[in-house]
Amino acid sequence: MQHTGTLPIRTRRLQLRRFMPGDAGNIFKWSGSAKNSRYVMERPHQTLEQAEQLLDEFLLQYQNDDFYLWAIAFQGEVIGYITGNEISEETKSVSLGYCIREKYWGRGLVTEAAAAVVDYLFSVGFDQIRASHHPDNPASGRVMQKIGMTFEGRIHNGSMLAGKVCDCMQYALTRSDWEKRAETECSFDYHT
Ligand SMILES: CC(C)(COP(=O)(O)OP(=O)(O)OC[C@H]1O[C@@H](n2cnc3c(N)ncnc32)[C@H](O)[C@@H]1OP(=O)(O)O)[C@@H](O)C(=O)NCCC(=O)NCCS
Repeated sequence: MQHTGTLPIRTRRLQLRRFMPGDAGNIFKWSGSAKNSRYVMERPHQTLEQAEQLLDEFLLQYQNDDFYLWAIAFQGEVIGYITGNEISEETKSVSLGYCIREKYWGRGLVTEAAAAVVDYLFSVGFDQIRASHHPDNPASGRVMQKIGMTFEGRIHNGSMLAGKVCDCMQYALTRSDWEKRAETECSFDYHT
């Protein structure tokens, strides 16, 4: 694979870019929210300092060319993130994760970001993109379905979310399925 790291991507409504110094205040708007953190791995932050520490870790990690983490900026404001992590070089697979502030839910923004990031990750050379969600978080599953991912099954005790072991709904997207879909209904308007 030819890792390129986190390069900027522009979609119709969004700018996907690296986190930058100064983003901690916006990060805390979702990382400090219990509702936002209910179905993600990280526990909610109690203080802004925790968000600042997390941001420092991100900034360090950008030195690695296999680190894929975009801030999602909408109308000039950072409202969330989208990442490709849990990389396997052997199977050329990567997992997708995302979160935006509650105020912006239900406008198709994460679907728009995910479609662009999936395209980007296939262009890097990944053959398979995985994602999973908590059974009680169907909105996340809808994002997966809307970008063409295939439901592979419910995995008993397959995840640790919000500090608890739970079942997870597993989805995957292969390169060939993505290419087939792109041929028939390519309308994802983005560029790096
Ligand atoms: C899950 C999340 C990423 C979705 O982002 P979003 O920008 O609102 O997603 P979109 O608007 O692109 O799509 C959401 C879809 O879920 C649907 N949806 C919302 N609530 C739903 C529910 N309770 N049951 C079923 N579908 C639901 C919406 O109707 C929409 O589908 P549609 O376009 O077919 O109508 C966002 O809610 C979020 O950040 N949640 C907190 C963090 C999180 O859970 N991350 C995922 C961890 S796996």
